[in-house]
Amino acid sequence: MTQSSNLNDWQPGSWQALKASQQPSYTNDTQLKLAIERLSSLPPLVTSWEVEALKEKLAQAQRGEAFLLQGGDCAESFEECTSDNVVQKLKILLQMSLVLATGLKKPVIRVGRMAGQYAKPRSADEETRDGITLPSYRGDLVNRMPFTAKDREPDPELMLRGYERAALTLNFVRSLIDGGFADLHHPENWDLDFVGESPMASEYQKLVQSVSDSLEFFESVAGDVVRARRIEFYTSHEGLHLPYEQSQTRFLSHRDSWYNLTTHYPWIGMRTAALDGAHVEYFRGIKNPMGIKIGVTVTAEHLQGLVKTLNPNNEPGRLSFITRFGAQEVEKHLPRVIKAVREIDAHVLWICDPMHGNTETTESGYKTRDFDNIVSELQAAFRIHQDEGSHLGGVHLELTGENVTECIGGARGLKASDLAKAYKSQVDPRLNYEQAMEVAMRIAGQLKG
Ligand code: PEP
Ligand code: CO
Repeated sequence: MTQSSNLNDWQPGSWQALKASQQPSYTNDTQLKLAIERLSSLPPLVTSWEVEALKEKLAQAQRGEAFLLQGGDCAESFEECTSDNVVQKLKILLQMSLVLATGLKKPVIRVGRMAGQYAKPRSADEETRDGITLPSYRGDLVNRMPFTAKDREPDPELMLRGYERAALTLNFVRSLIDGGFADLHHPENWDLDFVGESPMASEYQKLVQSVSDSLEFFESVAGDVVRARRIEFYTSHEGLHLPYEQSQTRFLSHRDSWYNLTTHYPWIGMRTAALDGAHVEYFRGIKNPMGIKIGVTVTAEHLQGLVKTLNPNNEPGRLSFITRFGAQEVEKHLPRVIKAVREIDAHVLWICDPMHGNTETTESGYKTRDFDNIVSELQAAFRIHQDEGSHLGGVHLELTGENVTECIGGARGLKASDLAKAYKSQVDPRLNYEQAMEVAMRIAGQLKG
């Protein structure tokens, strides 16, 4: 049976008949309907050509011929949609990809957690403070952070504001890249302006120098300028808020398929991956490549069910499993999930998210992650895949291009007592610029070895 014949009963809104977890309760149905109609009529943010090109690259990563770097904020906020933030995030991802590509000697696929990462799962639907109970904050796409009844009321208009911010972000990213921001001939863009005295600086400078030397050598031999100018950059976000995802889901007759055109590569979060749930129902009908977050409670049956439902034709590049077990649990769980997938001969891209299984709270109440645990889960993932005759094809990170103090450890040895200096995240703690570069260098070293 072909996938499209499997999909006879599927519509962008067929998820509505099922249990949809992590959705807000809108009180004004007319407003919700209007916002969805408006969104559905606006132009898409990405195209199916880009989506299919990415799927092809993800298939290469599955085969070990490329490596995926996926990173960005835990949650983007509307307020932080600024020129500086976009530039810094693009820059850190480009620099990390340079380090990875040089170390790995294979192409690196760059995917931002950006231009749409505006909705967050919450542990409770409501929050109570001083005897007052209000809906939880679910991200800027849904409601507002301040603890007032008005701010916490889910507002359908925010989906439009989110779509606009995503479009502004993507527009700027595309212009930067088209304008030569990633050009290896402009070392000022690649230089480390932040690591004056960092212990990592000299190693990175050597790396940049060696890239630049090989470019010069190649150009002198080839008598031409190497066209390293145009790079590819893709977007991803958690496909959590189904009315938003649904409204930009289009049937493209030239491909005889439905695509979610808010992003290239959406993922299903760990809390919404139930086989009989609304998210899996929505995702099974779109042609985009997709990620699924996998945590310690997953069973072999669940994993195999996800493969059968979401990728019935075993299409290469379509399905990625993003494992997030934590440094303590990875040894126990990764081998069994690899075996469960091997049992049914499924094409899956394995990605390690070393962030979400390693979250802890300090004595003074900061949510943080220890750099050593992050690196240790990553190293274990590389090794376990190798031992199991599989391979790790990518990494999923929460990071920022800014010099924040949210994760402890790293080359500068940030301590719990340093976190107050520049803790900006409203949700999960992110690697700062230097810590993110260090992770990239550790992966590059790991894989070389
Ligand atoms: C996230 O990626 O921010 C997240 C909530 O992850 P998970 O679904 O793995 O907990
Ligand atoms: Co997060």
